[in-house]
Amino acid sequence: MIQIENVRKVYRARGGPVTALDDVSLHVARGEISGVIGRSGAGKSTLLRSVNVLERPDSGRIVVGGDDMLALPEAALRAKRQRIGVIHQHFGLLSSRDVAGNVAFALEVTGLPRAERKARVAELLELVGLSGQAKQYPAQLSGGQKQRVGIARALAAQPDVLLSDEATSALDPETTRSILELLRRLNSDFGLTILLITHEMEVVKRICDSAAIMRDGKIVEAGGVRELLVRPGSELARGLFPLPPAAPRPDTTVVDVTFVGEDAATPFISTLARTYSIDVNVLGGAIEEVGDTRVGRLRIELPGSPELNAPQIAHLREHGLSLEIAA
Ligand SMILES: Nc1ncnc2c1ncn2[C@@H]1O[C@H](COP(=O)(O)OP(=O)(O)O)[C@@H](O)[C@H]1O
Ligand SMILES: [Mg+2]
Repeated sequence: MIQIENVRKVYRARGGPVTALDDVSLHVARGEISGVIGRSGAGKSTLLRSVNVLERPDSGRIVVGGDDMLALPEAALRAKRQRIGVIHQHFGLLSSRDVAGNVAFALEVTGLPRAERKARVAELLELVGLSGQAKQYPAQLSGGQKQRVGIARALAAQPDVLLSDEATSALDPETTRSILELLRRLNSDFGLTILLITHEMEVVKRICDSAAIMRDGKIVEAGGVRELLVRPGSELARGLFPLPPAAPRPDTTVVDVTFVGEDAATPFISTLARTYSIDVNVLGGAIEEVGDTRVGRLRIELPGSPELNAPQIAHLREHGLSLEIAA
C-alpha cells in the first residue's frame, strides 16, 4: 500500500546541511498498522510528511496505492492527498467551529453537497464516539475527545491510508489506550492502512503489526513485531522488555529467553532444572500483552560455562524458545 524506496532528504539549515532521511526504505502492506519508532530528531516526521509529499524528498520513490507520489502533477497530488488522512499530536482543530463544524470543514474541501455533508458528519461522529458532542467547541473538549475529532476529520474523505504523527503523545496513558483501540477498530472494520510514528514503545506494543526503528535518518531495524521480538539482538525487543544489565559472573551462563503465545504457558524453567538437576536463577524479566499475544522475556542464569550448557541451550531451543546468550 505504501512503498518508500531509497528516500533521501537533506535540509539546508543555517548551521549546515541536515540529513533527515538517509536512504530510507519501508513497505507498509494494505490493511496493516505499521509503526516507526525513534527519538526526537530521528527523521520520523520528515518521513511521514514525505508520504503525502508535504515535504518533497531529494531522491527516492514513494508509491501510495499504486500512485507514484513524486511524479504526480500538482492537481493530481492535491486530489490524492485528500485520500490520505492525517492526524497530529496537537489535533489542529479550528477553535471557532464546533465539533460538527470541524468535521464538516474537511468535507467542504472534498466538494460534497451540503445535504450529504450533514449526514456524513453525523456518521463520522458516531464512528469516533462523539455523537453527543457535536455542538461543543474544541476548548470544551478533553484531549482524547479532541483527537477523536481529528480522527473523524481525517476520515472525512474516506481515505484508505491514515498517517499519524505522534497522535497520542499529548495524551495520558488511559486516553492513549482508548485512542489506540479506536485506531485498531478502524483498521479491522474498514481495512484502513495506518502508518504511525511515535516515540512510545507502548504504542507499538498495543497496535502495530510491523515496526521500524529509526535513528539519525536511517531505519536500523524493521519487520513484523512478533518476528522482531524473537530476533536475537533486536532493539525493539530490548525496548519493549528492558532487562537489567548482564554482567555474567564467572563460570555461569546468562541466557535471555523470549517466548511468544502458547510457549508463554510452558513451565520451561522447572522442566530445565529437573531434567538437568541444576539451579536456574531468574535475573529479571517481564510478560506483556503485545497486540493480542502474550510475550515474555526472561533473563536466566545457569551454572557453568556456555560450552558446558550446550545441552541445556539445545533443550530450550527444541522447545521453540528464542534465545540470546550473553557474551
Ligand atoms: N524544515 C526544516 N529545516 C531544517 N531542518 C529540519 C527541518 N525539519 C526538520 N529538520 C531537522 O531534520 C531532522 C529530523 O527532524 P524530524 O523529521 O522532525 O524528526 P522527528 O520527527 O523524528 O523528531 C532534525 O535534525 C531536525 O532538526
Ligand atoms: Mg516529529
